[in-house]
Amino acid sequence: METIVQVSQYEELARSRVDEAAWCYIASGTGREQTLRGNVAAFEQFWLRPRVLVPTAGCDMGTTVLGTPISLPVMAAPTGFQKLLHPAGEAASARGTGLAQTLYVASSSATTSLEEIASATSGPLWFQLYMYKERVLSEQLVRRAEQAGYRAIVVTLDTPYYGRKERFARKNYSFPEHIAKANFSAEQDDTVDSEMGWDIFDWLRTITDLPLLAKGILTAEDAELAVQHGVAGIIVSNHGGRQLDAALPSVLALPEVVLAVQGRVEVYLDGGIRSGTDVFKALALGARAVLVGRPMLWGLAVAGAQGVTHVFDILREELQYAMALSGCPALSAITPSLIKHQ
Ligand code: FNR
Repeated sequence: METIVQVSQYEELARSRVDEAAWCYIASGTGREQTLRGNVAAFEQFWLRPRVLVPTAGCDMGTTVLGTPISLPVMAAPTGFQKLLHPAGEAASARGTGLAQTLYVASSSATTSLEEIASATSGPLWFQLYMYKERVLSEQLVRRAEQAGYRAIVVTLDTPYYGRKERFARKNYSFPEHIAKANFSAEQDDTVDSEMGWDIFDWLRTITDLPLLAKGILTAEDAELAVQHGVAGIIVSNHGGRQLDAALPSVLALPEVVLAVQGRVEVYLDGGIRSGTDVFKALALGARAVLVGRPMLWGLAVAGAQGVTHVFDILREELQYAMALSGCPALSAITPSLIKHQ
């Protein structure tokens, strides 16, 4: 592992180690994959304006998310079906994330139950919720997440229908029998609610006191509505290019969301983060922290929990470097004046 110094190396290694169907599932986007490519490419439209002769000894990368301390401003995005990549699946990725001293968001579609995930890690957890046609399914998940010590509910809003991954569908791949969603029993129907509206937040408020986050916001208009409906945080996201193809790359949507929110709630970003300088750019544009989906999965596929920790450590080191070379002794020094769009 000493020769792995960039996240992209984990991508190459993971591709060579997992079977074709599993690789296709995690790598795919929807449609012609414009958003999938755009998420990564858009970071290259931003350039840094470094300051010199600013002493930066001991760059401090610790921060908090909804009051929870994390050791770097990068968390694990919710992703399902991880047993396709590693037999220990989500238990290993949650453990690896905790060992990196950051926060893991467990997916409703995990192949490990939310209770097993909670007992596998020492790190803080949020729970990602889909709103199901059968509302009681969502309600039971929220209650279980509360019981198991999860600290917030991340409601995914960009999925009134599960996106069709054409690359995957064209191959007619299917998953092995034993790969199944672990939060449900075989007879439970987890069809997502395609009719949900903003009142889901009012309903969630009646069943839990946990903070609620809105994941999948790409516009100032929806950011305003989310704030009005009492969310504690917003995750600017297009689901890693896996829902609406041609939706804005998330880093291009970030500035308008930050502007609309005006600091009333915390704003995070996911989609296309592949290096510490990408993290730096997102923070300069106003994100409090970011989340990584595929990079964490690549680490899991290659080396289980250890690989996941290593992915966070690579991002930590790269961010530290970017801070030191641009004159930022602390995260609070990463301001919009350090970035230019071109
Ligand atoms: C996801 N994502 C996701 N999001 C969510 O809210 N619930 C889920 O169950 C899943 N599952 C999932 C599986 C896989 C294989 C991927 C790649 C993604 C989306 C995820 O949370 C996040 O938005 C993106 O992965 C971020 O983009 P990057 O980091 O993969 O570029």
